Amino acid sequence: MDAYATDTFDVARLVPGFRPPPRPGPGLDDAQLAAADARMRHWREPTDGPLVPGSDRHADATCRMFRDTFNPYRPAVLDWPVLEPAVRDRIVALPIWDIAVQTEGKARLRMAAYAGTLHEPGMRDALALNAWEEQRHKDVLARMVAAYGIDLAPEPVQQPPRDPEWAYLVTGYSECIDSFFAFGLFALARRSGLFPPALVDTFEPVMQEECRHILLFANWAAWHRARLPFLRRLRFEAKVAAVWAFLAWERIGLARAIDADGGARAQDNNFTLHGAQSVADGGADVRDLIALCLAENDRRFAGYDERLLRPRTVPRLARLMLRLATLLGRRR
Ligand SMILES: [Fe+2]
Ligand SMILES: [Fe+2]
Repeated sequence: MDAYATDTFDVARLVPGFRPPPRPGPGLDDAQLAAADARMRHWREPTDGPLVPGSDRHADATCRMFRDTFNPYRPAVLDWPVLEPAVRDRIVALPIWDIAVQTEGKARLRMAAYAGTLHEPGMRDALALNAWEEQRHKDVLARMVAAYGIDLAPEPVQQPPRDPEWAYLVTGYSECIDSFFAFGLFALARRSGLFPPALVDTFEPVMQEECRHILLFANWAAWHRARLPFLRRLRFEAKVAAVWAFLAWERIGLARAIDADGGARAQDNNFTLHGAQSVADGGADVRDLIALCLAENDRRFAGYDERLLRPRTVPRLARLMLRLATLLGRRR
């Protein structure tokens, strides 16, 4: 079996010298857990002055934010609440588990592969830690799947990417899209009462971690592009445009495949488009859902230093969609 396929994955094999965070002791009490949770959500660079993208100060602040907001929870000690049979069945039937586990597997591999190409030690460590956290997400999901008896399809073997920068960009921008919608769907799931609050709470740190990940990605991208000489910068911008085109094509293709299937419950990489029906009774109005995603996106980023850049493209597109939907709604 390929060493990268499942649980034998080790970030340090792709990022020599990477040391995983120390394992916290077994008995973190409630106060320590609450303090770690608060630390994960709030961070400010202690010195004043601008953080100019591309500057060493910007890189230092970005990397320190990522390190200081690390949450030491251990998947092994997460509580999986006992569920009513109907609730368990609904969760088992969600068409997302295969794709969720595989996406985390791909993300850890791609992030580690790209981190291994970096020479700047701060960014290299931050991206390697991000890969390690994706590994932890995969572990969380594996434990949940085992706890509730969810059957997974065999996982395809993942190979390290031939172009680590392309793969990292695809993963980073995918996370920007998926996290934006996941924030709203997660809030909808909490509100709808269809899922027990204890289960929603178990996933809350994972959701906030994705916010940290895309905050790191947005600042890495700004730092990286600002430091490139003119011709390499042009090449990079062309690559970014190609990544967005690829992601749009991938999502439109998947949406078509699902629709052609009559909405079959195939494992769904476009869960964000179909998920509202699954997490709320009777689905949700598209305008309400977009507005909720925007509000949740703002709320999750609010605790981090405002001088760090936020992912902008997806919220901008969402605001545009909201305006168009409102306009069309008025005309009708
Ligand atoms: Fe993840
Ligand atoms: Fe992530």
